Order: sequence, then C-alpha cells, then structure tokens
Amino acid sequence: MNKLGTTIIGCGSIHRVHADAIVNSDFGHLVSVVDIHKHKAQASAQEYHCRWYTDYNEAIHDDAVDVVHICTPHYLHSEMAIKALKAGKHVLVEKPVVRHIDEAQLVIRARDESGRCVGVCFQNRFNQTSKKAKEMIDSGAVGAVKGIKGIVTWYRNEAYYTSSEWRGRFATEGGGVLINQSIHTIDLMQWLVGGVEAVKGGVSTQLLGKVIEVEDTAYATLFFRNGARGIFFATNCYTTNSPVEIEVDCEKAKLRIYDGKLYIEQDGNCSCIADDNSKETGYKSYWGNSHVVLIENFYRGILSRGSGSIISVEEAVESVRIIDGIYKSASTGNIIYI
Ligand SMILES: NC(=O)c1ccc[n+]([C@@H]2O[C@H](COP(=O)([O-])OP(=O)(O)OC[C@H]3O[C@@H](n4cnc5c(N)ncnc54)[C@H](O)[C@@H]3O)[C@@H](O)[C@H]2O)c1
Repeated sequence: MNKLGTTIIGCGSIHRVHADAIVNSDFGHLVSVVDIHKHKAQASAQEYHCRWYTDYNEAIHDDAVDVVHICTPHYLHSEMAIKALKAGKHVLVEKPVVRHIDEAQLVIRARDESGRCVGVCFQNRFNQTSKKAKEMIDSGAVGAVKGIKGIVTWYRNEAYYTSSEWRGRFATEGGGVLINQSIHTIDLMQWLVGGVEAVKGGVSTQLLGKVIEVEDTAYATLFFRNGARGIFFATNCYTTNSPVEIEVDCEKAKLRIYDGKLYIEQDGNCSCIADDNSKETGYKSYWGNSHVVLIENFYRGILSRGSGSIISVEEAVESVRIIDGIYKSASTGNIIYI
C-alpha cells in the first residue's frame, strides 16, 4: 500500500495519539508537525524524526503532504480545514468539527470543491461496545428504542483550564463541558438512536466562575424524530473522571455501556456482550483506545475509496447542532427545534 504523507497541526496533548498512530502504521508517514510555539514543534519533530514549522501555511503547501491532521484549539478548526482543502489536502479534524453550525457549511463547500475527504475524530464510535450497541439497535434485535440516557461526571481543575490559553473562553473553545468533554457522549446518543428534532436544557458554571466564562455543567432532554426521548447530564465538577454511562431503553431489552463494557438486561438476566478490552495506553484513559482504528479507517477510506469508514462533517455537525440548541434553550427557557 502506498503511504500517504501526513502533517499534524498542533503539538499539544492529543497530537501524540495521532503521531504514534501514523508512525506505527502501514498507510501513512509523518512528514511534519506544526505548532505556533517553536519549542513544541521542535520537540515533537525530534521525537518523531520529521520536519517542523511554526506556520501551518508552509506545511499544507508541501507537496509531500497528502493529509492534514488538525489538533488545535476549536476556533481554528474551520479556518485550517478550509485552507488545507484549498491546498488540495485531505483533512482529519479533531472534535468538535467546528464551533458553530454555520462554519460547517463553509467546510462542506470547500470539501466538495476540492474533491478531497474530511473526517472527524469521534473515535468512540469505533469502540467495540458502541459498535455492538449500534448493531443490536439497527438490526431490531432489541426492539424500538424508547429512551436513552447519557451521564458524564468528570473532573477538570483550574490548572487544566489555565494550562492552555484557549480553554474556558467562548471565543476560542466555543463552550465548556458541552462542546469539549461531553460532545462524544452527545454524538453517541444521537448516532445510536437517530436524529434529534428538539432539545430543552440548561447550562451553568458551578465551580470555576472566577477562572472560566464557559459552562462546567449542563443537562438536557432530547426529543428524537422517531419518538424516543433522551436525558443527558454532564459536569466537570466531580472529583474524579468516572466512566461515562450510556443506557438505551429498548422495547425488548436494556443496553448499558459502562466502563468499557456493554451489558444487556433482558428477561431478568444481565450479561456482558462486548468489551473494549481497555488497556493502559500511556494516554489519558478517558480518551479511550479507538483513535488508532479511526485513523486507520480514515486512511483506508482515502486510499481505497470505500473500504474504510469516515465520519463526515455532516454526521459530526449533528452534535454541534444539539449543543447549539441546548445553549439557546438555556438562554430562553424554551424547547428548541433544531
Ligand atoms: N478526540 C478526543 O478524545 C480528544 C481528546 C483531547 C483533545 N481533543 C481535541 O484536540 C484538539 C486539541 O486539544 P489539546 O488538548 O491537544 O489542546 P492543547 O492546548 O494541548 O494543544 C493545542 C496545540 O495547538 C497549538 N496551536 C494553537 N494555535 C496554533 C496555530 N495557529 N498553529 C499551530 N499550532 C497552534 C498550541 O500551541 C497547542 O500546542 C481540540 O480540538 C480538542 O477538543 C480531542
């Protein structure tokens, strides 16, 4: 297989997951890394034996680069994706694909004009537990979905927000626990059940109001087009990062994803039917283990048009649409049709 040339923009905490996946793969090779902070770009380039830049415009115009990974603060995602597409590159962008839904249209237009691919990092869709739950629901094995709940109780302290200048600010992060930490859970909920047509919810800053302007806690009721109802709660104010819990209440059974396992409760019995086999990766445990699979699927999707699975902008923006609805509902007190 021909290897594609890769550049990674942003050498912060998540970039190592991307870099390790590429250098250990048989589908890509790391050409360069970019960070506005020279010391970060240099340190990464030294570790991964590649070129480095402080200006991403240089990296995306390098003929050796086919794929651009965007691992930067949220407010830069759409601008960088559009420029990379205009330079003729494929783009893999970290979540959230964009901060605001109107930016998604611009990325979609640039993608369609370029004929290149854009994929979004919702790696948890590739977890064994998520895939099995989706298969059970889509096949009808557990009957129609009546309801779903998603609970995220995590811990982010002052140092987390102050360690990167973009966190905690609407202009740069685009929101707080909703658009950053719990967007994965919102994505899984809407992916498992189907389209959300309306939301009612609220947000608040419970703990670190002197440090951040964004919400650290949020809740919502989701009204799905197929009649199912979802309840959602997320906070960064707990004292530890508890496993995310997702429960799907179906006509014939209840599915429950918790701590890397999928359980089915049916006829009074409970059994584990899928296991993410989570092992120590050296990265943060709450990122899960599926970035490697997602990245491999993205490259296979580019190389052999079809054999891989790419999470598109259209799919990924659904979570941003729901989040936008929760903010609007929080500020008006109304149910919001999205
Ligand atoms: N999929 C996941 O589970 C997951 C986990 C963590 C982070 N993320 C996402 O990854 C992205 C980055 O998050 P992070 O935690 O690594 O942040 P970070 O602050 O640790 O790293 C961001 C890096 O981008 C660099 N940067 C900023 N502006 C730049 C520019 N103009 N050009 C080049 N580099 C620039 C910063 O200097 C920094 O090193 C965010 O979108 C975040 O939501 C996703």
